[in-house]
Amino acid sequence: MNLLSDSDLAALRSWIGRATGVRGEDYRSTFLERRLTPRLRATGCPDAASYLAYLEDHRGEARTLAQKLLVPTTELFRNPEVFAVLRSALRERAGLPGWASIRAMSAPCSTGEEAVSLAILLSEMGLDGRILAGDRSRRALHGLRRGRFAVKSLAKLDNRLRERYFREEVAEARVVPAVADRILPLCCDLTRGFPGRGLHVFLLRNLFIYLTEEAQERLLGRAVQALVPGGLLVLGRAESIGRKRVEGLAAVDAGCKVYAKAWGGA
Ligand SMILES: C[S@@+](CC[C@H](N)C(=O)[O-])C[C@H]1O[C@@H](n2cnc3c(N)ncnc32)[C@H](O)[C@@H]1O
Repeated sequence: MNLLSDSDLAALRSWIGRATGVRGEDYRSTFLERRLTPRLRATGCPDAASYLAYLEDHRGEARTLAQKLLVPTTELFRNPEVFAVLRSALRERAGLPGWASIRAMSAPCSTGEEAVSLAILLSEMGLDGRILAGDRSRRALHGLRRGRFAVKSLAKLDNRLRERYFREEVAEARVVPAVADRILPLCCDLTRGFPGRGLHVFLLRNLFIYLTEEAQERLLGRAVQALVPGGLLVLGRAESIGRKRVEGLAAVDAGCKVYAKAWGGA
């Protein structure tokens, strides 16, 4: 049974646009329902219409809902097998004309661990390269701008990498300048367009799961345009290009959701 009527959904999508700046109409209704239901319970609002009215007078709740809708969760080397596939695809391409310096984008990057993981991978491989790290949440980007992460976020990281790339203080770990200097954080709405062009690597993980089929298709087309020929596109493990017809994109590792743009592509 649908909790939200069409008019509730339209009102929520319009609120999302005003509150967060992203295109509310691009988010799946099932995702919006899943995020809204616990907030109705938490605030004691009997239905979506009264909750939306409640938001107008309760800034704290509006911030909480915006945060819940953006889902700023991530981790260092999330799905390590994906980074292994990326490493071997980059190894094959290193040394080819146009691949001397890697232009990469991690978007959405959330709090930045994905961009840091890629910067570490490039350093480990001895590759030159820069990473644009884009997300709509300024709050999520704040830690990345400071180059600082909670020490607990390093828990699963291999000890050698941990010692080499982080300086641990009391509760925070500072990423070393050799990694931080490769990353440019940027606040942007990805549903309106991608900030990067001429990309060799595009980590576009865990955004499509929230979006409608139409929005996914539009973004996928733009992602392919943003890649150089042979450029690598990485989606989240729960996402795929599925039945969407994408000209000139082939699987490098379908299980890991790593794809490459055709070498002849424009
Ligand atoms: C689950 S995180 C994904 C982080 C990382 N890519 C990963 O897979 O670990 C989702 C992120 O998407 C961001 N986001 C959601 N919609 C967005 C939009 N329209 N534009 C930019 N960022 C968006 C959120 O702020 C959140 O940080």
